[in-house]
Amino acid sequence: MSKDKFLWGSATAAYQCEGAWDEDGKGPSIWDDYCHSTANLTGITGDVSCDHYHHFKEDIKMMAEGNQNTYRFSLSWSRILPKDDHVVNEAGFRFYDELIDECEKYGIVPNVTLVHYDLPDYIGTWTNPKVSDEFAYYASVVFKHFGNRIPLYTTINEPNHNAYCNYCVGNYPPNETNLQHYCECAYNMILCTAKAVKEFRKLNLNSLIGIVQGCGPAVSLKDDPEYLEAVKYCDYFCNDWVLDPAIKGILEDELIEAVKAKGIDLSFVDPNFKDIIKNNTIDFLGQNIYSRMLVKPNTSGITSFTVNNAGNNDGTNNSARETRAIKDWFEFDRDENTQLNKWGREIYPKCGYITLTKRKERYGNIPIYITENGHGCYDIADENGYVEDDERIEFLNNYLQWILKAKEDGVNVQGYYVWSTMDLYSWINGYKKRYGLVRVDYEDGNLKRTPKKSYYWYKEFIKKYQNI
Ligand code: NOJ
Repeated sequence: MSKDKFLWGSATAAYQCEGAWDEDGKGPSIWDDYCHSTANLTGITGDVSCDHYHHFKEDIKMMAEGNQNTYRFSLSWSRILPKDDHVVNEAGFRFYDELIDECEKYGIVPNVTLVHYDLPDYIGTWTNPKVSDEFAYYASVVFKHFGNRIPLYTTINEPNHNAYCNYCVGNYPPNETNLQHYCECAYNMILCTAKAVKEFRKLNLNSLIGIVQGCGPAVSLKDDPEYLEAVKYCDYFCNDWVLDPAIKGILEDELIEAVKAKGIDLSFVDPNFKDIIKNNTIDFLGQNIYSRMLVKPNTSGITSFTVNNAGNNDGTNNSARETRAIKDWFEFDRDENTQLNKWGREIYPKCGYITLTKRKERYGNIPIYITENGHGCYDIADENGYVEDDERIEFLNNYLQWILKAKEDGVNVQGYYVWSTMDLYSWINGYKKRYGLVRVDYEDGNLKRTPKKSYYWYKEFIKKYQNI
């Protein structure tokens, strides 16, 4: 399995697709707890989802038949270490060993994320001061077990978005709106990556380690000084705290001062923090590409965070905008010339180009994998379960043109993953917001899989561009 050729594949995450939430010794994650609690107003859970746990052979075969040569998935921490006692659940490893065997059978390169939102419930929250040491332990167990069988590891999926949903919007557990906790969570996530990288380096593997960032750099419609200030603050909030420590081993003093000036108490910071991050940087960047972070100066004078979960998943309330605003720092802007998807997210294919070229400006020639790019839709299937998802094809094709242009213009792009391999649980958007290249019929007892038109389109696209 070679990670040296361009990688073309698709992605999933453990809680979103595995199901088998309490099978074979798996412990509960915070998403199991949340979904089973009264806080989950829809009652929709990932207990079964598309049951990848029992269907992975079929899913991977379909990827291979679709010309895909890489699969990004995440490990469930609580499947591997179910309890707070550091005792490994061998059945957890067995599942992932078999999944990787299947990838190897088809020459599919595994790209594995250590945690994709689903902390074990015994960790509880990202503000738990023990989380980084526990994560480092978990990571070391994983690295020792899988070693070079996994050529690409990433530490945390979308630290920015995860922290944002947990502690700003409050739509992910622990459902808080608390900027102090946002900062504690962010700090712990920075340490998690640095400490996991430290464990990784001890083993001298041939594999590489990275992180997955959920948004691109902030941009604005004007470049006057107030707008550029807003861009700077939005980047502090969403980008710099994730990527500067992970890639450059630093966190700028100006950012720290700005956080303090917002009234955040930073007494939780370890005096050795800067040394820990300085010496433990990553090899590659995983970059998810969906839409722009378009900002302007904060004129509303308020701090406010909302997302559009499309009227509890029934498609009502479509196109209500998301808001993201921090008093005196920035707020989201709207470009009236662009289209929004049904969840109020801007569709803006050029954001791939802007993101990649700006990453190169700030971080040099670091290898970049587009770890997610995809389009959520209310798909309609015909009587055979077939979906003609031309809208998704158009989205992917338009985004890919800009991504390929960034590569041609010298950005070190090494791979690309469609989100998602098949339909799966879309967090609080449930099952109606679908992203898959393959349809899953949730009404069918066997969770029947049917490749969509986009699957066949992607198959041909890969064939055409396989040797780039
Ligand atoms: C990013 C997240 O990593 C993934 O879990 C999510 O489902 C997709 N975006 C689509 O919203």
